[in-house]
Amino acid sequence: MATADWRTLEGVLQRQVTGERLAHTYRVLEYARRLGRIHGADPDQVAVAALMHDYAKPLPAETLLREAERLGLSVHPVERAAPHLLHGPVAAAQLAEQGLVTDREVLQAIATHTTGRAGMGLLEKVLYVADYAEPGRRFPGAAEVREAAEQDLDRALLAALNNSLLYLVGQGWLIHPASVEARNWLLQGP
Ligand SMILES: [Fe+2]
Ligand SMILES: [Fe+2]
Repeated sequence: MATADWRTLEGVLQRQVTGERLAHTYRVLEYARRLGRIHGADPDQVAVAALMHDYAKPLPAETLLREAERLGLSVHPVERAAPHLLHGPVAAAQLAEQGLVTDREVLQAIATHTTGRAGMGLLEKVLYVADYAEPGRRFPGAAEVREAAEQDLDRALLAALNNSLLYLVGQGWLIHPASVEARNWLLQGP
């Protein structure tokens, strides 16, 4: 079964994601399309990954944990303590289970958009940077990431990871090791 058509995906998404979260999704979609054009990503993969990336974001923490377990995902202790981190992996697993998205690279990009990972591919980088720096993002550092993303996607990704790790440290929150591994990998020249 191929990935469902666009209208079906939008319908499924809009039954679950609404309001400002839906507006964010469409800003990510538009910005990811732009970054994908600049950096040579497949436009169809970019569009589906961006459209569906926050599909599971509205789910409450206990539902995310329950779904992760039902779907057989391995739940890291940091995810158990901060279940919102699971909204990427749970969305990917639900979309695959429902036969709505079958493209493995698209599923991977959706799964890793919350933390990043060492060895991220082009599609994952485009989605991570677009999600972090879409034009509605007004926090310090987003403009810097947008500027870098016009030229050098890896530099933009590193800036986004640096900013989010610094933010987490500043807040005193847990850090998922996949984000640290993604940053180490970028610093060592992917
Ligand atoms: Fe997200
Ligand atoms: Fe998002």
